[in-house]
Amino acid sequence: MIKEAIIVGASSGMGYEVARQLAEAGTKVAVVARRLDRLEQLAAAFPGKILCYSHDVTHFEEIPGLFQQITHDLGGLDLFLYASGVMPEVGWHEYSFTKDKPMVDVNISGAVAWINEAAERMDNTRHGRLVAIGSVAGERGRSQQPVYNASKAFLHTYMEAIRNRIARHGVAVVTIKPGPTETEMTAHLKMKKMPVEVAARKIIALSGKTGEHFLSPVHAVAFFIIRNFPSFIFRKLKV
Ligand SMILES: NC(=O)c1ccc[n+]([C@@H]2O[C@H](COP(=O)([O-])OP(=O)(O)OC[C@H]3O[C@@H](n4cnc5c(N)ncnc54)[C@H](OP(=O)(O)O)[C@@H]3O)[C@@H](O)[C@H]2O)c1
Repeated sequence: MIKEAIIVGASSGMGYEVARQLAEAGTKVAVVARRLDRLEQLAAAFPGKILCYSHDVTHFEEIPGLFQQITHDLGGLDLFLYASGVMPEVGWHEYSFTKDKPMVDVNISGAVAWINEAAERMDNTRHGRLVAIGSVAGERGRSQQPVYNASKAFLHTYMEAIRNRIARHGVAVVTIKPGPTETEMTAHLKMKKMPVEVAARKIIALSGKTGEHFLSPVHAVAFFIIRNFPSFIFRKLKV
């Protein structure tokens, strides 16, 4: 039973839906994001179960104090999920630091600042599930989204290192690699997507299983092959 959880990036998409499903199952959930109105709307549906915190993950200096406050308010911590992420549309010939920087700040720096706090606590308590949402996009350097892809590859490697530190103490350190999922982030993309309710259910089920997990079994096979394409072949594909 997951008694207490923190979800950073819980105002929409997968973070929102994981928070909703956990609250429905009886977990006390702390939800964190900038859009407080969305968080409060969710909390209203589960009186006494959801605590709301308005926060921008790029305000890095707030994170240690806020983490301490939330764990105190919750009274414990079984699961921490970092779900915040941004992926602005980038043109094939666009090299814009203005668009790239938020991906570094939210997908990398914010993730490290939050996950370090959770990892330190779980290292000390020898208890918990530490989960981050990566992406199939982090498996190769694709031409369409250089910084988004690189930010997810960073997250995968960083989580592997944290796993190698603390999984031996009984902490589940989990990297989730979704493919296209029906959320605000991908609303503009016309492609087959996994319903967000299904993705969230799988994330919760996998949260106790240390390791890296694709949400679709097809992706597990496809990306094993794609990861091993030689670069000169990969360059010829317009992906
Ligand atoms: N959708 C997909 O197909 C897909 C596939 C693979 C991986 N992913 C990854 O899955 C994760 C969740 O994304 P999603 O698809 O559920 O998208 P989403 O609906 O756009 O949710 C993104 C979440 O990130 C939060 N966020 C963004 N900037 C933030 C900031 N500066 N401070 C605090 N929170 C911030 C948003 O909250 P506020 O705006 O309220 O702050 C929101 O709660 C992301 O890491 C994404 O890269 C998505």
